[in-house]
Formats: sequence, C-alpha cells, structure tokens
Amino acid sequence: MSTPPRHFLDISALTPDELRAILDEAHARKAARIDWPKAAPDQDAPLEGYALAMIFQKNSTRTRVSFEIGMIQLGGVAIVLNANDTQLGRGETVEDTARVLSRMVDAVTIRANAHQDVLQFAAASDVPVINALTDLSHPCQIIADIMTIEERIGDIAGKTVAWLGDGNNVCTSFIHAAEKLDFKLRIATPDTYAPRSQEIAAAKAAGADVEAHNDAQKAVAGADVVVTDTWVSMGDTDKAERMAAFPPFAVNEQMMKHAAKEALFLHCLPAHRGEEVTDAVMDGPQSAVWDEAENRIHAQKAVLMWCLGRL
Ligand code: CP
Ligand code: NVA
Repeated sequence: MSTPPRHFLDISALTPDELRAILDEAHARKAARIDWPKAAPDQDAPLEGYALAMIFQKNSTRTRVSFEIGMIQLGGVAIVLNANDTQLGRGETVEDTARVLSRMVDAVTIRANAHQDVLQFAAASDVPVINALTDLSHPCQIIADIMTIEERIGDIAGKTVAWLGDGNNVCTSFIHAAEKLDFKLRIATPDTYAPRSQEIAAAKAAGADVEAHNDAQKAVAGADVVVTDTWVSMGDTDKAERMAAFPPFAVNEQMMKHAAKEALFLHCLPAHRGEEVTDAVMDGPQSAVWDEAENRIHAQKAVLMWCLGRL
C-alpha cells in the first residue's frame, strides 16, 4: 500500500507542530528571497518537475496568483482550471476528476462552492488536495494571516484577535487556528450570522479561548488584531438582509480606538470599502492588508511543501 496523500483541507486537522512547521517554512522562504524578481525560482527550487492543478468554481485573484507564482518560485508549474470550462461543468463527477488529475499532476487545489465536494475529491485523489476556499472554511488564508501577525507583533500565543462581521468561512478557519496556537479569539457578529456553533464547541472542547457574541465593542476591547471580511461572501443570496444587519460591525477609526493602541487591522480581501471597513482604516498606519496579501504567496509555498512531504 502506498502512503496516503497529505491533504490540506482544514487547519483543524493539523497538529500544532505541523502548523508551526508550515509557518516557519513560509517565514524562511520569504526571508530568503527579499527583492528578488517575483518569478525567479528559490535557490533550491524544491518542486522542480512538479505540477499543480488549480480548480476554481468561484472567482479568485489572490489565491490563484499566489499559488501560480508560488509554484513557479518552487520550481514547478501550475495549471489553472475554471471548473465551468472543464468536464466538471458538464457533470463529470468530482471523484472521476480526482482520479484523472491524480495521474496527471502532483497536487490539486480546489476552490469549491460546497465543502463536501472538496472532501469527496480528496477521498478519491491519490495526490494531495488543498482547500482553496469553500463555503465552510479558508485555511490557506489563515496561514498568511498568522504569518502577518507574527511578522508585525511576534508570537501570536496569548494575543487577542477580534473578528467582526460575518461568522463565515474565514472566521471558521480562525477558530480552527485559535485551538492550535493558543491565541484568544473574540468574535462579534449579528445573531443571524454567528459562526457555526459546532465549530465553537469543538474549539472550546480542545481548550481554545474563543468567545462569540453580538457585541462588537466588547470583542474589540484591548485586541491586538482586528479582522473583518466582506458582509456578502461568494454564493450568499441574502444581500439585502446582510446589508441591514452588519453596519454596527463595521471597522472604522472609532471602532479601532477600542482596540490596543497599535492594534493591527487585517482583511483577507477583496474589501468593500465603505461597508465592512472604511478607507481610513484600510489605508491607515495600522493596516497590514498588503503584507497579508503578499504573504499568501509564502504561505501557499509552505503548504505545498508540507503536502508534498518536504516538511
Ligand atoms: N483572499 C482571497 O482568497 O482572495 P481571492 O478571492 O482573490 O483569491
Ligand atoms: N468570505 C469571502 C472570502 C473571499 C476571499 C468569500 O467567501 O467570498
């Protein structure tokens, strides 16, 4: 029997040591290529000869470009597949697609509407599968976010991260990370858009210091990091209800004043300026969003190295 592939489906499935190894690799690869041309391969080009297929059922700018450039930097190649242009769009099953791609490439990323599709794809795949965002979670984003926090304020253990807005996929991956890295997570959302109670319960049962309620100022009080995301994620159909519910959770200068004096502001992007965040916060001195976006490259590379057994 060959060894089962190392999938990267959710941070909850990693051990703290595996997560630490991925973060350390991301920091090290970033430090080793400061000011290099973006598509120049890393000195060791560790994935030379390897191919990554990237399936997208939803739009993407950062995830697509960071994985593609990341693969080039690791010495390999990446192939982008818009799901609708493939036979998936005409009804070929995810399992059969996984079996075929397993014969053609060394790893696959999928951005899917339904998390279940990624699980089914992974179960049928002989090569590592990476969750590039689903309705449930966005683990790749959180590797870049933690990396950014560590760069700016050091060890995240013991720090307080406040999440404001929608208890969505990105929020869920933060909950998974809180359990592994011992930071405090304070989530404030409208009651209707609270994170899934089973995620909170599982994190708490694993010892995480996570609170979720509907009081934005309480969540932000003294926080070291304030994070938000769009109020209407890809696939959400209740835009009018959302636009009515979320304004008290907007991150503006007044809200940031409740956080620690030099608290960081993070956003996975794309941002909807004037909705979940103001221009003053996005473009202000506490914002780390452009580092966060760049760090997607370094994070994806580290995830690929882990999946391919190099860490
Ligand atoms: N943050 C993020 O995943 O961005 P994209 O949707 O542009 O990939
Ligand atoms: N929550 C957002 C994240 C986009 C990167 C969405 O799913 O659309």
